[in-house]
Amino acid sequence: MENNFDVKEFNSIVQNRRSVYPNQFQKDKQIPDEIIHEILENANRAPTHKLTQPWRFTVFAGEGRELFANLQTDIYTKYAGEKFNEKKLKNLREYPLLSSHVIVVGMKRSDSVSIPEIEEVIATACAIENIFLSLTPYSLGGYLSTGGITYMEEAKSHFDLGPDDKLIGTFFIGYPEDLSNPLTKRTPTDEKVKWVTG
Ligand SMILES: Cc1cc2nc3c(=O)[nH]c(=O)nc-3n(C[C@H](O)[C@H](O)[C@H](O)COP(=O)(O)O)c2cc1C
Repeated sequence: MENNFDVKEFNSIVQNRRSVYPNQFQKDKQIPDEIIHEILENANRAPTHKLTQPWRFTVFAGEGRELFANLQTDIYTKYAGEKFNEKKLKNLREYPLLSSHVIVVGMKRSDSVSIPEIEEVIATACAIENIFLSLTPYSLGGYLSTGGITYMEEAKSHFDLGPDDKLIGTFFIGYPEDLSNPLTKRTPTDEKVKWVTG
């Protein structure tokens, strides 16, 4: 296969990956659905042990965002219990409408082959990273939230997930207003890598 890929450009896309939050999105600027379809094609190329392809996406767009805002505030209000927090509720109501598209990510356990659950979570996380890396070339921004209803058992059934499946998080996507704030810091790569050369 001929390789026309631009390595410098690819490294730049990966090394500039960053979370962009809904309050940093341009108001009311909608992403064409075709772009979201393409980004989800990228997600669907994630590696997957035994090809179980456990990632599941529920996309909320247009008026669907309002439905999602209502759904997650209802679930949160009903089941948050002692953890209930007014500020969180406000974000759960506002973030979907500040976004162009909201993608709820689930992990569906395969019952046809036996692989450890963690491998299905890893595969879904790889799909999420593919979404993340796809945003920059389209001048989009987004972030993954694991707050709100993510770990509430009662939320799963609303996303076609059963008791053995997991809600992994919610990805909010929009056009960034301005990306002048700095990237978050990382400690040096060398501190996390050990080379064995002989
Ligand atoms: C698994 C996972 C869950 C996250 N959940 C949240 C969240 O619930 N709320 C939030 O504000 N950010 C969340 N984030 C975003 C991180 O806070 C963010 O990645 C981190 O601050 C580093 O910033 P960067 O992505 O711009 O490098 C999550 C990130 C990951 C990988």
